[in-house]
Amino acid sequence: MPTITIATTAPADLETEVLILPLLSGGEDAPSRVPDQEELTAAIAELDPSASRGATHRLPALGGVSARTLLLVGLGVEDLAEASAEDLRLAYGAATRVLAGVEQAALALPGGTPEQLAAATEGAALGAYALTAHKSGTPAVKAALAGLQVLAEDGQEEAAETGAARSRVLAEAVGIARDLVNTPPNLLFPAEFARRAEELAAELPLEVTVLDEQELADGGYGGIVGVGQGSARPPRLVKVHYAPEGARGSVALVGKGITFDTGGISLKPAAGMEDMTSDMTGAATVLAATVGAARLGLPLEITTYLALAENMPGGGAQRPGDVVTMRNGRTVEVLNTDAEGRMVMADALVDAVATEPDLVMDVATLTGAAVVALGKRTAAVMGTEAARDEVLAAAGTAGEPFWPLPFPAELREDLTGRFADLRNIGSGRWGGALTAGIFLSEFVGETPFAHLDIAGPAFADAPLGYMGKGATGMSVRTVLEVLEARSR
Ligand code: BES
Ligand code: MN
Ligand code: ZN
Repeated sequence: MPTITIATTAPADLETEVLILPLLSGGEDAPSRVPDQEELTAAIAELDPSASRGATHRLPALGGVSARTLLLVGLGVEDLAEASAEDLRLAYGAATRVLAGVEQAALALPGGTPEQLAAATEGAALGAYALTAHKSGTPAVKAALAGLQVLAEDGQEEAAETGAARSRVLAEAVGIARDLVNTPPNLLFPAEFARRAEELAAELPLEVTVLDEQELADGGYGGIVGVGQGSARPPRLVKVHYAPEGARGSVALVGKGITFDTGGISLKPAAGMEDMTSDMTGAATVLAATVGAARLGLPLEITTYLALAENMPGGGAQRPGDVVTMRNGRTVEVLNTDAEGRMVMADALVDAVATEPDLVMDVATLTGAAVVALGKRTAAVMGTEAARDEVLAAAGTAGEPFWPLPFPAELREDLTGRFADLRNIGSGRWGGALTAGIFLSEFVGETPFAHLDIAGPAFADAPLGYMGKGATGMSVRTVLEVLEARSR
């Protein structure tokens, strides 16, 4: 996360390596948003650069501008007044993302509202991310942009400070999730994930409890034990508890933490299997959001569960057809060992609802079917109606694309087991994202429930706006917004 400072210097007078300025797609008028410099305006008109959202252009600064270089970023709108908060986040995030390797940059949004400046700052903070821990340094690895100055216009300083403070918390939380997801699967296994959770909680009012494989077996967590038993690196269930004084309510969060998903004995094809390093994104997301909530000091009790296991086809692995007894005593036929997420999540959900929270919300890279339905950038939300709407409203505020999917009653019948209470895959072929969600809801009971399937947006093949390739951190801000909204 970059160091963010506020300055009130006029954009043209600021000495910095790079000055980030907006470019509007409005023909003649477009360059007028650049500080009133004729030479520059003429140069931009000559270049006719694309002003599509997130398109970036680096120029040497001309006479009258003190910055060494300019980075113009397209907002994708003709008029600044039309630029939404998410337009600004994506554009300014694209700008700082391409500034990896640069020490210092400044951003300005001449003529923007304080809210727009705050959104630009948030995007810029989110875009300044790189995980360099695993590069040996040859050729030189580009670190993320280190320092960011936000240029506030007269009377905007206070709003800019508030925006910067918020951006720091959000970018830190999103960075926590991205770092966990981008850590390769040989280095991030269940016990190591649990250790990282303890490390992150250390300086915060968060209490962490870790159940190891013996405790899981003794406690009857058949879903987690079954999925984890094929790996030499045993499973864990981590509980993170935040209980501030004067809490206005309680929320339980559950995250899918499969540190690598080979599919188990129902082995996945080799092509693309490496992306299954991201199958712990749900756990990373709820942990990051909990850290963010604690940093913000939200008056809300939060109990977060990380269901951690590695799904491997070892000699001790579970077989298709195995029947396991879950944490609540119900039995499940494991007909496909690749439908492992719902098995680990179900056990954690049983514990989560036992605390009688006002809401239980889970986040999981649960199904390929969700990606087929909504593509790589939109996440699915399912659950009880009010909880689902609450997530959609929060996602709208955060600017993250979520879309609702239903739990049709007839799909429940496809999950009835032959010898056991339930089967872990539907007998029918269609609607796999819904079937998986309905399976989870069987372990939730009457508690208001939201299920977020982020299999598509969690991990990207290509950069977009403030998101680079790999872990996106998508959904951290939505989960945090749900928690914030409940704290207001
Ligand atoms: N982790 C996968 C889901 C997934 C797929 C995440 C693509 C990200 C990208 C999950 O464990 C899985 O394998 N699901 C199966 C379920 C099936 C066996 C019922 C799937 O979606 O194919
Ligand atoms: Mn799987
Ligand atoms: Zn999985």
